[in-house]
Amino acid sequence: MSAALPTSSREWHLVARPHGWPKAEDFALREAPVTAPGEGRVLVRNLYFSVDPYMRGRMNDVKSYTPPFKLDHPMEGGAVGEVIASNAEGLAVGDHVLHGQGWREYADVPAEHAVKVDASLAPLSAYLGVLGMTGLTAYAGLFEVASFKEGDVVFVSGAAGAVGSQVGQMAKLKGASRVIGSAGSDEKVKLLVEEYGFDAAFNYKNGPVAEQLREAAPDGIDVYFDNVGGEHLEAAISSLNLHGRVTVCGMIAQYNATEPTPGPRNLALVIGKRLRIQGMLVGDHAALQPQFVQDVAGWLASGELKYRETFVEGIENGFDAFTGLLRGENTGKMIVSLA
Ligand SMILES: NC(=O)c1ccc[n+]([C@@H]2O[C@H](COP(=O)([O-])OP(=O)(O)OC[C@H]3O[C@@H](n4cnc5c(N)ncnc54)[C@H](OP(=O)(O)O)[C@@H]3O)[C@@H](O)[C@H]2O)c1
Repeated sequence: MSAALPTSSREWHLVARPHGWPKAEDFALREAPVTAPGEGRVLVRNLYFSVDPYMRGRMNDVKSYTPPFKLDHPMEGGAVGEVIASNAEGLAVGDHVLHGQGWREYADVPAEHAVKVDASLAPLSAYLGVLGMTGLTAYAGLFEVASFKEGDVVFVSGAAGAVGSQVGQMAKLKGASRVIGSAGSDEKVKLLVEEYGFDAAFNYKNGPVAEQLREAAPDGIDVYFDNVGGEHLEAAISSLNLHGRVTVCGMIAQYNATEPTPGPRNLALVIGKRLRIQGMLVGDHAALQPQFVQDVAGWLASGELKYRETFVEGIENGFDAFTGLLRGENTGKMIVSLA
């Protein structure tokens, strides 16, 4: 145990369920008392916490693969911090841990839910992104779910984001014949081609996705990694080659929709082209973790894999960081820094 503990912690609560775009009044930053950790628990000072698109789904009161956030309770999500008091074997003051109690300054975490991470191997924030949940999503979604193979032409949407930027680069590293990305600004498009080595990229806000994709992939695509849904998915189905594969990872274009969104109008093409369209959840792919860490750490060390992070400073800006993510204000992983 350590001596001087803080007396209170600020934490974000969901106070009303958003309808459409989340509004500031749906959230509140509240103070809660901090107490010494009970048996088998540690008190963690959060240094970074993650805001992720899936959290929008948890703000709705619907049955899903993760339970909804409870109103007037602290929100949850990935976080990395430093143990400042320990009442658990194997975790000591000063250790850095990854855990699931983000959106707050101090977290009282059961030891079995805290994973030790090494600040000397990678910057701590990387355990939320390139070496963390979004990285594993990209890795599993490309190599396992899409059954990627050398020579494939790969198209990824949300390509300048955390998952998408890793998908495109890993496809190149493993021998894709062509990698195409779409993103929401000309600056992001430039980054994809000039820094991440994509063969082609386009700004989906500059014209119809189907047309821009056809131009970027004149011989069609073999894999579509979907982070967006909607118009992107329809365009990809049109461009997919025989036996093409789609990993449906996310559909961010519809997360704030207030009405059911239309499906792809060309779904019948799935038959003749014998397409495989498969949803994924990263949680199903934990068995890949050791291989993922080994490969990605190697590519990071050699400089072959690049990544960006967008930091929003201060717990009080947590809500703005989240809505900024939904608006595309991030390049790479969006992270709230409390360090
Ligand atoms: N299935 C799983 O297990 C799993 C796990 C992690 C993430 N995901 C999903 O993967 C996707 C990417 O997640 P991430 O964490 O890497 O987020 P991210 O891509 O880093 O950030 C979200 C990005 O989405 C783009 N966006 C927002 N609205 C859009 C729209 N209407 N049309 C096209 N793009 C839009 C924005 O970039 P632009 O500037 O390019 O618009 C924004 O930067 C999300 O759909 C997420 O839900 C799924």
